[in-house]
Amino acid sequence: VNKLLIYTKDGKKMKIAVPGTGYVGLVTGVCLASKGHKVTCVDVDENKVKKMQRGESPIYEPGLPELMKESMENLIFTTDYKSAYQDADVIFIGVGTPEKYDGSANLTYVFQVAKQIAQTAEKHCVVVLKSTVPIGTNDKIESYIHNKQVNDVKIYVASNPEFLSQGTAVHDTLHASRIVIGVTEEYPADVLKQVYENFDAPKLVVERRSAEMIKYASNDFLALKISYINEIANLCETVGADIEEVTAGMGFDERIGHRFLKSGIGYGGSCFPKDTKALNWFANFNDNELRTIKAAIEVNENQKFKLVKKAKKYYNDFLFLNVAILGCTFKPGTDDLREAPSLVNIPILMEDGAYIRVWDPVGQENFKKCFPEKIQYCSCIEDAIAGADLCLILTEWGEVKEFDIKKYEELMKHPIVLDGRNCYNLSDFANTRITYDSIGRRTVNPDLYIEK
Ligand code: UDX
Repeated sequence: VNKLLIYTKDGKKMKIAVPGTGYVGLVTGVCLASKGHKVTCVDVDENKVKKMQRGESPIYEPGLPELMKESMENLIFTTDYKSAYQDADVIFIGVGTPEKYDGSANLTYVFQVAKQIAQTAEKHCVVVLKSTVPIGTNDKIESYIHNKQVNDVKIYVASNPEFLSQGTAVHDTLHASRIVIGVTEEYPADVLKQVYENFDAPKLVVERRSAEMIKYASNDFLALKISYINEIANLCETVGADIEEVTAGMGFDERIGHRFLKSGIGYGGSCFPKDTKALNWFANFNDNELRTIKAAIEVNENQKFKLVKKAKKYYNDFLFLNVAILGCTFKPGTDDLREAPSLVNIPILMEDGAYIRVWDPVGQENFKKCFPEKIQYCSCIEDAIAGADLCLILTEWGEVKEFDIKKYEELMKHPIVLDGRNCYNLSDFANTRITYDSIGRRTVNPDLYIEK
C-alpha cells in the first residue's frame, strides 16, 4: 500500500477532479477546494464552464458564490476532461442519474465518465461515486473501468453518497451529518479519510453495497415520513384535529423527532421523487416488493392536487378566475422547480380557464422557461394578489410567512387563501373576512365566499 500512497506530506492537499457541476458536483468541488485541495471541475457545457471561470455560480445556492470566490486559487473549471483525469489522485463523480420512463435510474452519464477515466487516467487513483446509484453499480463501474483502461495503473472505486439538501448545500457538506465511505479494500478508505480529514463529521467505513443502500434508504425513509404525516394531516381535516398540534406533540418523542414532519402539498425536488421510484423499481427487478415506499409515492402524487381539490369547494369552475400563486419552487431557498407542485397545479388551473399571476423571489425565471405565455409574473406579493379571486400558497418563502395577512383582505377581490404549507397561525385570521384553508387544520371562515 505504501508505494501507492498518493496524498501529499501534510496529508491534506490532493489533486481532485470532479466531473459534473450540478448541485452535488459543484458544491463538493468548491468545499474540497476551500479545505486546500486542488480541484478541477469538469463539465460538458462550455457556457457554464465560462461562467464558473469568471467566479460565478451557475446554480442558485446560498453561500456558494462566496465560498467559490474565496477558493478560486484552488479551483479550475474546464471542459477538457483529459487534463483533469490524467493526473488526478481522486475523481469524484457527481453527474446526474435522472429518472427513466420506467422509474429506474439512468446511468448513462456515470458510465460515460467512467469510460473517459479509463481512457485517460495515467496514475493510480481512486474513483469516488457521489451520484445516487442503484446497489451494485460501483461493482459494475469498477469492472467496466478495469476492462477498458488504457494505462497500467491501479484504479480503485469507492462509494461516497451525498446527503446535501438544496438551499443548505454548503453547510450540509462542510458539516455533514456523516461521511459514508463504501469500499471493498482498505486503501481507498484511507485516501478518502485523508480527503475529508478537515471535515467536521463522523466518518463511517462500510461495504460498498451498504453505502449505496444507505443513500436510498435514507432518502426514501424521509419521503415516507412526509407521506405518512400528510396522510395523518388529511385524516385530521376529516376528524377535526389539528396537524400542527399533533406533530408538535409527536416530535418531542426523540424516537420520532420534529424534523421532516411538516405536512404540506407533497415532497418535490430532484431526489425524493426520483429515489423512491428508483428503489421501488430496483426492488421489483430483484423480485422484492417495497410496499411502504409504493404507498409513499402514491400518497405524494395525490397530495400534490390537494389545493386544486380544495379550490373546488369555493368555485364550481375556474373559468376567468384570477388566481394568485405564491411560490413555484419545490421548496424555499432554491430556484429549482423539479417535481414542484406548481408544475401540476398551475396547468390544471390554466386548462380550466383561470388567469394566473405568479410570484416567487427566485424561481420565476426558471418557471418562465416552462410556461412563457399566458402567465403574469409579479415582482411582489401585493401585485400577485391584487384583485384575485383565489390565492394558492405553494412554497413557504420567508416573504410569504412574514406577509401582513390583512393585505389579503384589502387587496383580493375574494380573499380566499389556500395554504399548502401552513405558513400562518389559524388565530391570525380570527377577526378577518379571509377564508383561510390550509393542510390538516380546520378552515377559518369557511362559508364566506362559497358559490351556491
Ligand atoms: C433531499 C434530502 O433532504 C437530502 O438529504 C438529499 O441529499 C437530497 O434530497 P432536497 O431535495 O434538497 O434534499 O430537499 P428537502 O429539504 O429534503 O425537501 C424535499 C421536499 O420535501 C420538499 O419539496 C419539501 O417541501 C418537502 N418536505 C420536507 C415536506 O413536505 N415536509 C418536511 O417536513 C420536509
